[in-house]
Amino acid sequence: MTRHDLLVRNARIATMEADGEAYGAVPGDTVAVRDGRVAWMGPAERLPRELHEVEATLDAEGGWVTPGLIDCHTHIVFGGDRAREFEQRLGGASYEEIARAGGGILSTVRATRASSDDALAASAEARLRTLARRGVTTVEIKSGYGLETQTELRMLRVARALEERVGVRVQATLLGAHAIPPEFAGDRGGYVRLVCEEMIPAAAAAGVADAVDAFGEGIAFTPEECARVFEAARRRGLPVRLHADQLSDQGGAALAAAHGARSADHLEHASEEGVRAMAGAGTVAVLLPGAAHFLRDATVPPVASFRAHGVAIAVATDLNPGSSPLVDPLQAASLACLLFGLTPEEALVGMTRIGARALGLETEIGTLAVGKRADLAVWAVDHPAELAYWMGAELCREVVRSGRPARFSS
Ligand code: NIG
Ligand code: FE
Repeated sequence: MTRHDLLVRNARIATMEADGEAYGAVPGDTVAVRDGRVAWMGPAERLPRELHEVEATLDAEGGWVTPGLIDCHTHIVFGGDRAREFEQRLGGASYEEIARAGGGILSTVRATRASSDDALAASAEARLRTLARRGVTTVEIKSGYGLETQTELRMLRVARALEERVGVRVQATLLGAHAIPPEFAGDRGGYVRLVCEEMIPAAAAAGVADAVDAFGEGIAFTPEECARVFEAARRRGLPVRLHADQLSDQGGAALAAAHGARSADHLEHASEEGVRAMAGAGTVAVLLPGAAHFLRDATVPPVASFRAHGVAIAVATDLNPGSSPLVDPLQAASLACLLFGLTPEEALVGMTRIGARALGLETEIGTLAVGKRADLAVWAVDHPAELAYWMGAELCREVVRSGRPARFSS
């Protein structure tokens, strides 16, 4: 027996697989794990003999077991915070006004450049541990507060190192095209060249990025600039994603689809045409209701249109200092229901099965299925809808990663 073998008993099982019961619920109370992968699920009395000899057991005490949550869009690594800007916004300044005046993302860039690796790692670790305690077993972390090659790579390395430090699976995404740094003010072309010709090749050569993202927006990068970034990513074999149509319709959804992006994220202002293009390309819509809530933007992404065209919907925290200081995955699910009109099941599928797709990890994680990684969360709830219903409750009883319980409770 290895440490990666485990029996989860007295559970109710929500696999989050499609085409079955709500939440992918299956009969039975036992999940058996072998070598870090799900080996069997069903009623205890039918547990195959060869799976009986397992030392480690976890009593779910009648609670629900789901796949571990996947937070597929975050900016967890950064210096400082933006609480003062929060005050300014409440005093009437807009997010765009603050950004155009040199605050916003650029104020976090100043703080990040001035932070040591240890300081960046320590603050990010605290945030990631909070997500982990709340059921997250995989997180995507973007750079984008360095805006110079060395600091972008530093952020990606810090992000990757968190996997070992915290035990949560980490995907790192290069977001060099997040804002134009002050030293390139007046030379946008020069900065985009730096991203394409130096940053992306350096990140690819160092093997520190799993994907490349860009912020397509009036206050950030034009569609043409984003397209150049995507082409550079493709030349290095890196998949792409896009912050698309968050504050205005920039044609971002269609642009992401045209470049075969894994996901287009935010999408509050996405057009019908863009949604159709996403459906054709299989691009996932990642909804980030924490940002809409925190920016007090009442614009709702075209959810009915995603459903009608069969665009898969993921939900994530967007945890970042400026537009979504949200350190709670279930709050993201709750806000997705309350602000965007998702059902609790859609929101939770969006944080598991579809979140995995947005990261290209759907064959490994995202649902409970025999052969997949045994990343799971045990919840003290009577019905899975409670996960999106309570606001701020600590519902996660235990998290298991590759078959190993994290034992937060002890
Ligand atoms: O996902 N939209 C761009 N990036 C972040 C915000 C970053 C910031 O304000 O620091 C987002 O909302
Ligand atoms: Fe973001």
